[in-house]
Parts: sequence; C-alpha cells; structure tokens
Amino acid sequence: MKYNFDESVIRHNTDCIKYDALQEFYGTEDLLPMWIADMDFKSPPCVTEVLRRRVEHEIYGYSVVNAQWKPAIVNWLLRRHGWHVEEYEIGFVGGIVPALAFVLEVFTEVGDKVLMQPPVYHPYNFVTRDMQREPVINPLLLVDGQYQIDFDDFEQKASQCKIFFLCNPHNPGGRVWTPDELTRMAQICVRHNVLVVSDEIHCDMPLKGYKHTPFAMVGDIAAQNCITLMAASKTFNIAGLKSSYHIIHNTALREQFARYLRHRELDTAHLFATEAVAAAYTHGEEWLGQMLEYVEANIDYMQEYIRVHMPRLGMIRPQASYLVFLDARALQLSDEELARFFIQEARVAVNPGALFGEGGSGFVRMNLGCPRSTLQSALHRIKVAYDKLL
Ligand SMILES: Cc1ncc(COP(=O)(O)O)c(C=O)c1O
Repeated sequence: MKYNFDESVIRHNTDCIKYDALQEFYGTEDLLPMWIADMDFKSPPCVTEVLRRRVEHEIYGYSVVNAQWKPAIVNWLLRRHGWHVEEYEIGFVGGIVPALAFVLEVFTEVGDKVLMQPPVYHPYNFVTRDMQREPVINPLLLVDGQYQIDFDDFEQKASQCKIFFLCNPHNPGGRVWTPDELTRMAQICVRHNVLVVSDEIHCDMPLKGYKHTPFAMVGDIAAQNCITLMAASKTFNIAGLKSSYHIIHNTALREQFARYLRHRELDTAHLFATEAVAAAYTHGEEWLGQMLEYVEANIDYMQEYIRVHMPRLGMIRPQASYLVFLDARALQLSDEELARFFIQEARVAVNPGALFGEGGSGFVRMNLGCPRSTLQSALHRIKVAYDKLL
C-alpha cells in the first residue's frame, strides 16, 4: 500500500472528542477509544497540502466558497455513484446533524411526526425531540445477521408522518440499501406525502461486493421528494472541518430550504472547509480505495477473532463504512452490565447499542477505522474480560 494505515498517530491533546473527551463521556481517561465515528488515520496528503498552503498565507479573513468545490462534488457523484447533479442543486451546510434540525424547522411544525428506523444514528431521535417533534419508529428486523425493513409497518407508520429520516447506508447496522428497498420506501413516502431526508454521509465507503445507491436515483418520484445530505467528512476523515452539503432536485423544496439557510448565513463555509473537500474529491480516490481495503481487513480480522476466541459474541458484518455493531446478547447482561463490562472490565470505549434506540439493547458499536494494532489491543482487552465472565 502507498499509504500507511498501520501508523499509530497520537491524538491525545489535539482537542479531539475520541481521545480528549473520554473523561467527560465515560468518567475515565484510561480507555482504548473505539467509539465516535472518526478514524485514527491521517487524512489524505492532498487535503493536508491545501490546508497547509492556506495556513501559510497567514490571513484568515472572510472567504467565499472555493470555486472548485461544486465542480468537484458534481464530478465525484457522477464518477462514484453515476448520479448526475447540477451545480445549482448543491448547497453548503455546516453539518448533517444541524441540517436535520433545519429541515424540521422549515418543513414541519411543533408536534409533527418524524419517521426513523432504529437502531439508528441517535441524533435523529434527539434532534426530533429537542425540536418538539415526535419520533415514530419503524424498527428494523434482524434477519440472518442483517437488518431488513418491515414494509407493512413502514407504510402504516409513514401514514402518520411528515418527514422520514433515512440512513443510507445505515449506521450502526451497516446496511447498503438496495435499489428495490429504496424504491419501495420512495413509493410509500410519496403515497403518504412524507418528505424523505436521505442522510448519505457513509455513501462513499461501500465494502467489497456492495454498491451505494443514492435515494434520489431510484426514480423521478424519489428525486422530487427528497433532500439528500452528504459530506466528505467520514470518507476522508475531515469531520472537524464541518463541511457538508445538501442536494435537492425539486426546485420548490430547494428554494425554500436555501432561503432559510441564506437568511441566517448558515450556507457560508469557513475558509478551510470547501477547499479541503474539493481537494479530497479531486485527488483522494486512491487513498480512499486503500483505506477501504485496510478497513475491510480489520473487519475480517475481528470476525475471525470473535469466531475463534469469543464465540458467544456475534457481529453484524457491515456492508459499508468502518462501524461494527457487535451482538453481545448471548452474554445476557443488562445494558448497565454490558456498559460496565466494556468500560470497567475491558476498558474499551464503545457506543452502547441502546443509544441507537429500539433493538439496540445487548449490542455495542465499535469503530474499526484504526490501525490493526489498536484493534488487536481492543479485542485482547475484551477477550480478557470475556474469559472472566464465563
Ligand atoms: C449517519 C450519520 N449522519 C450524520 C453524522 C454526523 O454528521 P455531521 O458531523 O455532519 O453532523 C454521522 C456521524 O457519525 C452519521 O453516522
């Protein structure tokens, strides 16, 4: 490999949440952090180069969006996903979670219902509740080790809702939804007048044998009834640059949303954001390919380790991205006991499955975007605690 993903980079004291906020979130710093979804890999050199050049200019005044940002996104989406998007259909937004709140503000009223599919990325629920809207759940079904959609329940729940937060690909389940599944959801949402917000932040990281389908690509009815949220932040490990974007084909929806953002200056990027994204999308593809190969090997390693050394644990093998939902239900621990097992016994920081809502109890989410040696240490720690349980 050209890039060295085995390198252990010290992240302590860089104001990063993963290492520097352990005390705040877990009450102790003495943990191996396998939690929040960024990677322990250096970003691609093309990103660092543009940022370094910009820093060395030494003037950080007001800035406009980088001229290459939109063309780079258009080319990337066409190349990676076969999705044809016009530049005018793209708009900047500083983060996907804030964008969820903005969508609720623009397109719903207090008390309106929002559909989501737990176990799912927890801010969907938190943002909805914080904004005094009501989450309605269509729980995913775990069938033969992979999540599936209960479409009858989906239709019944959709009929009550104004918005559907779709996690495409899914976090923490790792599902890459198929065109057929996306089409069925699109048809149901149109039938019941539910606006789809497709969060595609993990879209550029399908693993071997899987292909991401942008929701808006499954047909005109989907394209006209959806707001797609995307970012280079997970893909190239630049989440701290707070740079995301929305794509809206439907003119009326786009104008309404863009107006809301523009009036609050929420559509303006800080000066490091768009240049870094343009560089990543233009020059980062080789790095991404190698990163995904490395992550896939981490997933293989973990699957085999669990099979051999901790057979009472199971793992939902992700079809995309570097997050693994680990099935610890056979240990028969309560959520509190499971947290104690990982934090106090194994001393590995994971995200508790219950955080992701219904269906998450008994699971934890582990982040495999790390050097193999980190993963090995984490698995060893978990095994020592596991052996003590038996
Ligand atoms: C599905 C999903 N959406 C959104 C985000 C966060 O997006 P942002 O940092 O742009 O708010 C994450 C981060 O883990 C995620 O997994």
